[in-house]
Amino acid sequence: MHNLDQIVDAACAAFAATDDPDALEQIKAVYLGKSGRIPELLKGLAKLPPEERKAVGAAINRAKDAVGAALNARREAIRKMTLLTRLAEEALDVTLPGRGQARAGLHPVTRTLERIEALFRSIGFEVADGPEIEADFQNFTALNTPEDHPARSMHDTFYLQEESGEVAQGVLLRTHTSPIQVRYMQAHVARHAALEVMPEIRVIAPGRVYRVDSDATHSPMFHQVEGLWIGENISFADLKGVIGDFLRRFFESDDLQVRFRPSFFPFTEPSAEIDMAFMSGAHKGRWLEIAGCGMVHPNVLHHVNIDPEKYTGFAFGMGPDRLTMLRYGINDLRLFFDGDLRFLRQFV
Ligand code: PHE
Repeated sequence: MHNLDQIVDAACAAFAATDDPDALEQIKAVYLGKSGRIPELLKGLAKLPPEERKAVGAAINRAKDAVGAALNARREAIRKMTLLTRLAEEALDVTLPGRGQARAGLHPVTRTLERIEALFRSIGFEVADGPEIEADFQNFTALNTPEDHPARSMHDTFYLQEESGEVAQGVLLRTHTSPIQVRYMQAHVARHAALEVMPEIRVIAPGRVYRVDSDATHSPMFHQVEGLWIGENISFADLKGVIGDFLRRFFESDDLQVRFRPSFFPFTEPSAEIDMAFMSGAHKGRWLEIAGCGMVHPNVLHHVNIDPEKYTGFAFGMGPDRLTMLRYGINDLRLFFDGDLRFLRQFV
């Protein structure tokens, strides 16, 4: 019987010494498995004299139960321990402060564009759109800039290639938003063809434009906002009123001056550059060019089947990137397009 107690003690000690479930099952095999120590003892019963078998058999079975009970207890203990460790490892401290939400913000130029749209909408302008990949006709020809016209050289741009590598005929990245004038007038005329009197056109068109240009005040991609007002008796005085009003509202200041400086565009006559200067503050007295403008040239109206004897109007193309630089006091245009978050976050 001494031997049995030793086996039970040894089994218990072995169970206690491991906390690995697989190892525990291997130890079980040593004591309780088919040819384990206790089953071997039971097999030995047959060799005992019949009168001893009963008592010895009972003792072996008690030892077997004791080992089985110790095994189950250990299994349970290991299961609990594993659970506790997992709980501890996966613990979530709900009292920790949150990691913070990264808040997205609008790009400063987008803010300017939205502001321009809102201000022009408030005086009855629609907002139109057009393709950035434009046809030569809309970008130049319809705007009174035929092939070989010297004004084309000021609009050097990116021409698209065919898959063969050939320059695609007449397809380019638009150099200004003026082609949207052409598209809008064509659609407007078609829409109102049945009417005796064409309703007024009052539209602005913001968008990206492209030129081969890059320095502190020029980027190969930049923004323009086109404006167009066509109707009966629309004059240069209306243009001056609209622009002056717009700028004072945009900069929330009456303390600025606007100047129309004679210039040339093939699609307007007369044409002017619009300059503005603040009368106080950091930029005080410095004139800055912010737009080109003029009365829409009769040839342009002819191209889109509007009778220039009956209708007149003005157009302008302004630089919202410039307006953004002025509004926020930024001195390098390229900052807008570098995608540097340290710069952009300031506007969130
Ligand atoms: N499209 C001209 C430019 O990009 C600007 C402009 C627009 C001038 C409309 C007159 C009228 O330079």
